[in-house]
Amino acid sequence: MCGIIGYIGDNVEQNLIAGLEKLEYRGYDSAGMVIKRENDFEVYKSIGAVENLKNKVTRRNCDFKEGTKNVVTNNNLDNDKMKNQDDKETQTQSDFSLGIAHTRWATHGKISLENCHPHFSSQKDVALVHNGIIENFETLKNELLKQGCNFYGETDSEVVAKLIAKLDINSLRRTIKKLEGSFAIVLISKNNDNLFFAKNKSPLYVAVGESCAMVASDPSCFVGKAAEYYSLEDGEYGKISLKEVVFYDKNDKIIEKKAQNLDFRYINEEKSGYEHFMIKEIYQSRIALENIIKRYQEDEIKDILKKVKQSMFDRVYFIGCGTAYHAGLIGESFMRNSFNIDIFSSIASEFQNKNYCIDENSLCIFLSQSGETADTLSALEYCRLKGAKILTITNTEYSTMALKSDYCLPICAGQEKSVASTKAYFAQCIVLYILKKYLQGKDYIEPLKNLKKQLDFGDDNILKPLARNLSSYDKVFFIGRGNDYITAKEASLKLKEITYIFSSALASGELKHGTLALIDENVLVVVVATDEKLFNKTLNNAYEIKTRGGKLALFTSIPLDEIAREKFDYVVKINQTIQEFMPIQTILQLQKIAYFTAVIKGINPDKPRNLAKSVTVE
Ligand code: G6P
Repeated sequence: MCGIIGYIGDNVEQNLIAGLEKLEYRGYDSAGMVIKRENDFEVYKSIGAVENLKNKVTRRNCDFKEGTKNVVTNNNLDNDKMKNQDDKETQTQSDFSLGIAHTRWATHGKISLENCHPHFSSQKDVALVHNGIIENFETLKNELLKQGCNFYGETDSEVVAKLIAKLDINSLRRTIKKLEGSFAIVLISKNNDNLFFAKNKSPLYVAVGESCAMVASDPSCFVGKAAEYYSLEDGEYGKISLKEVVFYDKNDKIIEKKAQNLDFRYINEEKSGYEHFMIKEIYQSRIALENIIKRYQEDEIKDILKKVKQSMFDRVYFIGCGTAYHAGLIGESFMRNSFNIDIFSSIASEFQNKNYCIDENSLCIFLSQSGETADTLSALEYCRLKGAKILTITNTEYSTMALKSDYCLPICAGQEKSVASTKAYFAQCIVLYILKKYLQGKDYIEPLKNLKKQLDFGDDNILKPLARNLSSYDKVFFIGRGNDYITAKEASLKLKEITYIFSSALASGELKHGTLALIDENVLVVVVATDEKLFNKTLNNAYEIKTRGGKLALFTSIPLDEIAREKFDYVVKINQTIQEFMPIQTILQLQKIAYFTAVIKGINPDKPRNLAKSVTVE
């Protein structure tokens, strides 16, 4: 699972780096690029974030006398040479050229320069970048080994590169027919000025600008460069030069494809004075809410809501991964309290194992910020085959999931860059609220306008000391009842993913059935209690923790008397809204707690280790 880009035009290095920066949400274990210049390849590879690659390329531009190790020209791809080669003689030019680049989330093979893309054919005159997983790579590799082929790394992607000797459309066709699994690939060769590309189950897009041509995993890479783009279907492949683009379908026929407008609303890629994207994005929940209020008064969206309402269904499923799954739990709760039909929610990767009864009377609601998550996509395709109606709620209106759905509702949150999803969760919950209200035939705009006035991002003078204290714990539990339990789950996920502190969420009532055995003075328990009806029971569970020496932090909108107040080491007050909005009101401060804790621990919350924002492998 990775991000890939190919570019033909001027300033090729800068444009490839700019593209990789946009694709970094797909992984940041290593990054690499190859540029074709005067029938040779210049190769740059670095471990870690794209910034490292950028520094390498920039250093070379600024002061080539210092030289850049790890730059490979011609056929020198051996790793020792890669480490030692001095490229003083290779001057940088910002003229027209072509190149391909890659940002990696490691699946096959450790994080190393050998496994970093681009990968090369045996003669080293064809270079390839790949996103996806080649499931039959071991079989193919064994055949190549028997033929005397040498491999420098462990990746499935290198096997694809080794299958190609001379790059043209016929050899590309022959190669992709041998592949099983998912792939988006872009290739260049020393011998011509085309980008070759192919796609199966991993997203890939093509665009032609005034003086450039591009192929990338995400059309956001084309913003500012082209007005339109082409979305590739599974099995399609082709080639692009500055003069023409040729597409073939899966039956090897040349096809005309219809271009789509590059309509990027809500794009804002700067940190705008914030230290990290995560904190900026938490505050952008307010803007997401404003965008939703505006967009969901438009006829285009009302038509979609109307169609969903008109489709007959007697069962509803909410499906997603990670944070999006938690939004689905909120959706389930909204619906359960309003409609007398069967409603379920499921983690996408487990959905097909549950043998749910899915048919044409089912409405399957898929939640996904990216619209590309492989597990969610796979569950979506399963539901399609069963004849269900598919509704996707996503931040990415051009995504594969959006395209494969009967209906798509946008969450209008604007690009989310930090790996930990924050404003997208908030916005998904808002759209789920709208859906429920619309299906009930009730107004949703006034309550949302009221929520906007009541939004509470908390007091940093209270949150930061709590985060400081929290950062000293190895174990944290989050507890709550009802919707507060869902908030506890999401808060716990946020904390563990960006602070690396072990954390787990429990329904308050479950503590005494096992987990209480873990409670002592070294454990902090965060209690979420915003529902008046459940408040006293939750407080009683909190006291059971206090009695066993555990430390307590309470997040509540409900006034506490002095006696209760004294039981808690920390109390964080949350502005009361209508009860339905309390989960999304409360999560804002809990997201900030996770953020402050990560910063105190010296972790970059935007890029937690081992994770990626968009997970396109199952
Ligand atoms: C990754 C991200 C999570 C996200 C999940 C689902 O694990 O790190 O923040 O919730 O994928 O992503 P999606 O794009 O489908 O919402």
